[in-house]
Amino acid sequence: MNQNFKLYSQYYDLLYKDKPYQAETDYLVTLIQYYHSTAKNILELGSGTGKHAQLLVAKGFQIVGLERSPAMVEIANGMANEKVSFQVADISSFEINQSFDVALSLFHVISYLTDNQSLINTFNHTRQHLHTGGLFIFDVWHSPAVYAQKPEQRIKTFKSDEIEVVRRANPVIYAEHNMVEVNYTIEARNPHSGESNVIEEKHPMRHFSRPEIELLAFATGFEVLHSEEFLSKVPPSSKTWGVCYILRKK
Ligand SMILES: C[S@@+](CC[C@H](N)C(=O)[O-])C[C@H]1O[C@@H](n2cnc3c(N)ncnc32)[C@H](O)[C@@H]1O
Repeated sequence: MNQNFKLYSQYYDLLYKDKPYQAETDYLVTLIQYYHSTAKNILELGSGTGKHAQLLVAKGFQIVGLERSPAMVEIANGMANEKVSFQVADISSFEINQSFDVALSLFHVISYLTDNQSLINTFNHTRQHLHTGGLFIFDVWHSPAVYAQKPEQRIKTFKSDEIEVVRRANPVIYAEHNMVEVNYTIEARNPHSGESNVIEEKHPMRHFSRPEIELLAFATGFEVLHSEEFLSKVPPSSKTWGVCYILRKK
């Protein structure tokens, strides 16, 4: 699973070029201002290519991003400055010599942690790097929505001047483990030379219910302040794929 994003990083920004990073950042800033108005610095777990971080810096925050994919860190560090930096790290086992007001983990990063030990380790390490009263904000796949909507085969096509990509997603549901293994077949083609190659990737994703997050929070020294649909703020339901949780370090 560690190599999942190695190839993915080559076309990640293209794949998500229509993702509303600015609107998401505005939403996150509203949450931070509401729950921790004096917050200044942020630890981002699974920071990808640094899109949210870049926009959060523009809002006046200082950011350290942790990301296990060296290729993504390299892209993100292309825009690093004294306010933002990115390091290659596993979010379940990092040690950095700094404490933060807020930890963020965005776009289902926590759902990539499919086993209990990795989850507990991540929550514990996050707590250790937060000031007392610090926030941990993350979004995860929501079990009631996964059961109601059942993930299906999907095809996504996207292109730029340099590359044309067709991505097929084939989900396998492991209901007893709260897990969906998304198998991607990605065909990338150079429109000029006609050369193409096919990449296969597995992304095992775990989904969560609120009691499960409450238990994790309880076991690792956090309290759950609130949960809502990511971005829309509506109460979670079987229609809500991505739920945002706001936790506070006790
Ligand atoms: C869907 S991407 C989201 C990236 C970024 N947060 C965004 O919103 O664009 C999930 C990211 O989580 C990272 N990731 C997953 N598990 C990780 C782990 N254990 N440690 C560090 N990064 C991890 C992946 O490498 C990938 O960049």
